[in-house]
Amino acid sequence: MKENIEMNTLHKLTTGIYVLTTKKEDEINGMIATWVSQVSSRPPLIVVCVKNVRYSHHMIKDSGIFVINILRDNQKDLVTIFKSRVKTKSDKFKEIPYFIKDTGAPIIKDALAYLECKVTSSIDPGDHTIFLGEVIHAEMLRDGQPLNIHHLGKYYQG
Ligand SMILES: Cc1cc2nc3c(=O)[nH]c(=O)nc-3n(C[C@H](O)[C@H](O)[C@H](O)COP(=O)(O)O)c2cc1C
Repeated sequence: MKENIEMNTLHKLTTGIYVLTTKKEDEINGMIATWVSQVSSRPPLIVVCVKNVRYSHHMIKDSGIFVINILRDNQKDLVTIFKSRVKTKSDKFKEIPYFIKDTGAPIIKDALAYLECKVTSSIDPGDHTIFLGEVIHAEMLRDGQPLNIHHLGKYYQG
């Protein structure tokens, strides 16, 4: 970090809290991600930034699929489950109801909405890989307000 950049200023960026899910062969997984953004409307494109040491990173890299599950503002409890780190095999969906659509990556039944994406490219500009995904399917699942980083009161340092 450059000396003249105050770290706290980066924490004033308002970002959502998402469960980024994926599937590789017969294994499904999900992790909390906040560095997520829309970058085009036609075609609809999303970027998600995943640190290259994450278990989910290799799954997305190999399968080329992910789902952004948009959480509701009363779903902080899901953060505890999905921020946990996988060492050998993921069991994070043991007690979480989900369904699947086109890609097979899990969609959390109780989420506000979801965006199902296919990776079109990726770049590694720093310590996170930017996966660019085209949205192939998207749906509102219920009414409500999205959870964001300021609701948590804790910030993601990367
Ligand atoms: C609020 C919050 C936001 C996070 N945002 C990101 C993110 O944008 N990118 C990332 O690589 N990890 C992020 N993480 C960390 C991952 O969720 C965490 O390392 C998780 O254990 C990865 O799961 P995995 O081992 O199943 O891949 C975040 C964690 C929290 C608590």
